[in-house]
Amino acid sequence: MLNFAIETAREAGQILLEKFGRKINVSFKGDINLVTEADLASEKFIIEKISTHYPKHAVLAEESGESAIKIDGANSWKWIIDPLDGTTNFAHGYPCFCVTIALEHDGEIVVGATFDPTRDEMFAAEKGNGAFLNNRQIYVSETEKLGDALIVTGFPYNFKEKESFAQHLTDFLLHSRGVRRDGSAAIDMAYVACGRFDGFWEEGLNPWDVAAGKLLIEEAGGRVSYYDGSPFSVYAPPICASNNLIHSEMLKVLRD
Ligand code: IPD
Ligand code: CA
Ligand code: CA
Repeated sequence: MLNFAIETAREAGQILLEKFGRKINVSFKGDINLVTEADLASEKFIIEKISTHYPKHAVLAEESGESAIKIDGANSWKWIIDPLDGTTNFAHGYPCFCVTIALEHDGEIVVGATFDPTRDEMFAAEKGNGAFLNNRQIYVSETEKLGDALIVTGFPYNFKEKESFAQHLTDFLLHSRGVRRDGSAAIDMAYVACGRFDGFWEEGLNPWDVAAGKLLIEEAGGRVSYYDGSPFSVYAPPICASNNLIHSEMLKVLRD
């Protein structure tokens, strides 16, 4: 199933790449929340492929929601899909976006694949077997202090309702080496897994944004939690993720 996720993410990424930089249909899900024909084409492809290969598995996908097939005792498999993470970037021709696919089994994420077609980078992980970038095993960074760390975040579409967000951003700017905002939570998390970033936090994400990334980071030796340090569920934001070494310093910023 890891190979299936990798192959499917790669093929869906090709669909995105073919549409990237061309004139495409864009509509609005909220005042600044877009959906393009690329999101829809990628999701249709992924869901059709899953229903052909795993017709009994449930699906949770950003644009179509929960499939009619539900999780029950006999069926404990669920694919969690963001067919295009970084839609705003994509719509503006900014080459930072990906396809991200995860598989949940008995409530646990067991497979994750995040594919960036613009750089031909495939981040993949399987529970208990490590995390990989293009078949090379990856690990989180060895940065020990927040002051030496490069942190990444995202601005939720409803950031105007999140009062604490601006304060956390200011505090991380003051206490780290730098803060980035690239516009794709799944890429942000994949980059924590391979050590390009040391930590990540964000307020208002959805399961499809973070499911593969959680597994990638944990399999690469990092930690993913809530702001109080308790174990993170992909179904409920907010999220703090790191190389583990700077985690308590990050939590201190997020708790204050
Ligand atoms: C968004 C991106 C972004 C994050 C937003 C997400 P989308 O996903 O991951 O980085 O800040 O909260 O909703 O809409 O491009 O799939
Ligand atoms: Ca997303
Ligand atoms: Ca999306």
